[in-house]
Amino acid sequence: MTPEQFREYGHQLIDMIADYRNDLSDFPVMSTVSPGSIKQQLPTQPPVNGEDFQAVFQDMKQIIMPGLSHWQHPGFFGYFPSNSELSSVLGDYLSTGLGVLGLSWQSSPAMTEVEEVATDWMRQMVGLSEGWQGVIQDTASTSTLVALISAREKASQYALVKGGLQAQRAPLMIYVSAHAHSSVDKAALLAGFGKDNIRYIETDADFSMIPSALAKTIADDIAAGLHPCAVVATTGTTTTTAVDPLSAIGDIAHEYGIWFHVDSAMAGSAMILPECRWMWDGIEKADSLVLNAHKWLGATFDLSLYYVKDPEHLIRVMSTNPSYLQSNVDSEVKNLRDWGIPLGRRFRALKLWCLIRDQGVTGLQKRLRRDMANAQWFAKTVSSTPDWEVLAPVHLQTVCIRFTPNNLPTNQLDDFTKAWADALNHSGLAYVTPATLNGQWMVRISIGAIHTEEEHVKALWANILQISQQVLQQQFL
Ligand SMILES: Cc1ncc(COP(=O)(O)O)c(C=O)c1O
Repeated sequence: MTPEQFREYGHQLIDMIADYRNDLSDFPVMSTVSPGSIKQQLPTQPPVNGEDFQAVFQDMKQIIMPGLSHWQHPGFFGYFPSNSELSSVLGDYLSTGLGVLGLSWQSSPAMTEVEEVATDWMRQMVGLSEGWQGVIQDTASTSTLVALISAREKASQYALVKGGLQAQRAPLMIYVSAHAHSSVDKAALLAGFGKDNIRYIETDADFSMIPSALAKTIADDIAAGLHPCAVVATTGTTTTTAVDPLSAIGDIAHEYGIWFHVDSAMAGSAMILPECRWMWDGIEKADSLVLNAHKWLGATFDLSLYYVKDPEHLIRVMSTNPSYLQSNVDSEVKNLRDWGIPLGRRFRALKLWCLIRDQGVTGLQKRLRRDMANAQWFAKTVSSTPDWEVLAPVHLQTVCIRFTPNNLPTNQLDDFTKAWADALNHSGLAYVTPATLNGQWMVRISIGAIHTEEEHVKALWANILQISQQVLQQQFL
């Protein structure tokens, strides 16, 4: 494709996306295509000769769009907000269009330095001290993997350059709450700790880790000859946005000399609001933390911020230094390949840099405050309606709800909950996520898409009331 053709199709593409964003609310939020139906419409063989790019636009419209669930839709209340502010999209296009790669500082100096600036802006925005330095990873899953590998190497005194984990005399132990995200488990498994060496610490009635249970488990493990390595606390758990008490957990981590990682993938964005910083009380005791700017904040996926207190340690663990990547300024610059797993890096920082410049701190704060106010309204409305309950504290924008009609047999409650959520999702009016809490099904309402205003939350409640009643009458009574 020539630059002139690119200009022509690029304008069309931008128009297509701008129209899509304008007309989003006309689409059913959740795609209801059946499995395999998209693939069935696409040729199984690649084209032998190049096609006119118009054919791609055509297929996008006719085949691909019906197969999308619309995360930017004002009726999207599923999973978590994965906001894609258009200014951040432009940053992403810039990154892609420039096609530069970061292998070292020298391979594109501005790429490293914009990342240093943008991660430091975010550090200040979320109220972290100057003791932290940040780097961009793709996802929180990767950030937590990097954290647990760093923890492993600290506890094992850099076993990776010797016999690795296999040469350890005692198993290294990881501590997490039972409500930690599955990515923490996965990171522990991939980092070689083994399922048997992950301890799930008890939580309280608000789903927060109980520090005394953590301390006891660590002490018991030491008495049994095991080697405590790291604790992972969560600020804003996935199911209920529960908040683990960082300060008390940090004290225990320091007492036993173990790594302290904080997963604030979801709630980290809220730390731009001073009134939310109580959730991070004790964060300065941590060794590493992750915050996904690609969730509520609005940086288009993927952009996970990983902060550490001791970059020297991170570099020692991650560094490879083949001759072809060396330059004569290496002692003066950051080579971000040594701050994570991949060698090649894209210019992700542009997505964050453009977002912050476009919105300003106050613009971002205003949107998050709107969402929190909407969540409070929703929770209050639900809990004041007979037979409806809110099942967990609403710290941020997620509300966990259940409808327990008194004429419904108890053993049908789970099926009923999943059925009304499914009916709501299939109505195209909203997208919500059913999940289990304390072994029972409930429905998570995650408020916070960019275009979700109070009117949409009110409409959601009206739709939930109507559809859940219909499902009750038609399928369960
Ligand atoms: C608390 C928490 N941690 C980690 C993750 C995983 O995020 P990612 O998709 O960036 O790996 C999520 C995503 O839902 C989350 O809510």
